Amino acid sequence: MVEGKKILLGVSGSIAAYKSILLTRLLIKAGAEVKVVMTPSAKDFVTPLSLSTISKNEVLSDLFREDNWINHVALGRWADLMVIAPLSCNTLAKMANGLCDNLLLATYLSAACPVVVAPAMDEDMWLHPSTKFNLEKLKGFGNRIIPVEKGELASGLYGEGRMAEPEQIISFLDVNFFFSTELKGKRALVTAGPTHEPFDPVRYIGNQSTGKMGIALALEFAERGAEVELVLGPSSQEVHDPRIRVTRVQSAEEMYQACLKIFPSTQVAVMSAAVADYTPVSFSTEKIKKNSETFTLELSRTKDILQALGDKKRPDQVLVGFALENTDEVAHARKKLTSKNADMIVLNSLNDAGAGFGYDTNQVTIFEKSGLEIPFGRKSKQAVARDIVDRIIKLL
Ligand code: CTP
Repeated sequence: MVEGKKILLGVSGSIAAYKSILLTRLLIKAGAEVKVVMTPSAKDFVTPLSLSTISKNEVLSDLFREDNWINHVALGRWADLMVIAPLSCNTLAKMANGLCDNLLLATYLSAACPVVVAPAMDEDMWLHPSTKFNLEKLKGFGNRIIPVEKGELASGLYGEGRMAEPEQIISFLDVNFFFSTELKGKRALVTAGPTHEPFDPVRYIGNQSTGKMGIALALEFAERGAEVELVLGPSSQEVHDPRIRVTRVQSAEEMYQACLKIFPSTQVAVMSAAVADYTPVSFSTEKIKKNSETFTLELSRTKDILQALGDKKRPDQVLVGFALENTDEVAHARKKLTSKNADMIVLNSLNDAGAGFGYDTNQVTIFEKSGLEIPFGRKSKQAVARDIVDRIIKLL
C-alpha cells in the first residue's frame, strides 16, 4: 500500500506528462506524501502550478534558485521511492550515462531509495537499439522498469511506447515495493456486482449494484498479500490488477457455478455480490413483442450461493456474507449469520445516508459468530474493506 509512503515523482519532457497530474492525484488519494521534481522541458507539457496544487508541495525544477542551491541529496534521502513518470528518451539516455545537468538527474544520482521508471516515447524511439541498451543499463543499476503499453501514440501512429496508466503504475508500486504479507499463501474468493437474469435476447432482470464494494475488498485482499479470485457480475467497473484473477459472469447461476468451482481452493470467501433471488423460468430466443396490455413473467428462486458455500465450508475456511436491509436490520443480519452458516455478516442499512449501491462511501456493522457486533462510521468503500479484512485476519 502506498498509504503513508513518501514518493518523489520525477516528471520529464514527454507528452505523457499530462498523466503525472492524475498519478499525483491518485497517490495523494491513496494516502502517500508526494514531492515533484520536473526537468525544464517537462514544464512545456504540464505546469508546476498544477502539480504543486495537487501534491500540496512546492514543485522543484532548478538546481539553483537565485543564489540558493537546492539540496537534491536531502530530496533523495527523504523519499521511500523515486518514480520517474514519464521517462523520456532524453532523460533515459542521461540517466544511463550519469549526466547531471538538471535537478531531476542530480536527485536520481543521489537517491538512496529504490527508483522505478515509466518510459513514454514513440514506437520508433522505443524500438531503437540505444533505448534498449539504456534501459538494460538502468536495470543493471537496480532500477525497475514499468512496461510500456501498446496504443495510440503522440505521432498518431499505433504501437508500443505509451506510458502505463496511472492506476497501473500505482498497482506496480504496491506489488513490487509496498506489499504486505499478512495473507501471503492464502487465497480469497470475492463476489461482486449485480447479476442479470435474461428473459429474451435484449432484456433482463437486474439491480443497481455497481460492484464497487466487492472490488474494494478484492483490492484489499491483494494488498495484504492474498491471491484473489474475483467473480464479477455485469458491472461497468474495470479491474486491471495483476494480483486479481477476474471471472466475469452474467447470471446468478453462472456466479454459483464459478464460486462452487473456486471455493474449495480458498481459505476466505466474501459474498458481496447483489445476487438476484429470482430468475425468469423461461427464456425466449426471439425478442418478446408487445402483443398484450399486461405482461406476466414467471420467476423461480435462484440458488443461494452463500448458503451453498456455508453448507460445504471446512473448519479452516472463513465465510463472510453481506446483508442489505431496511427493516429489522440487526435481527435479519443475525438470522443470516446462523441460517447461512457464515462466520461474519456485514450489514448495510439502506436507512444510512451515503451507504449502499452506487455510493463511494459505505457504513457497515459487522456481526461475528462469537456474538461480537462492531458498528463502524461512514467511510470510503476502500476504508470499509480494510476494516472487514482486518476482522477476517483475526478470524483466520
Ligand atoms: N446471496 C447469495 N446468493 C443468492 C442471494 C444472496 O450468495 N442467491 C448472498 C449475498 O451475496 C449476500 C447474502 O447472501 O452475501 C445476503 O444477501 P441478501 O440479498 O441481503 O439476502 P438474501 O439471502 O437474498 O435474503 P433476503 O432477500 O430475503 O433478505
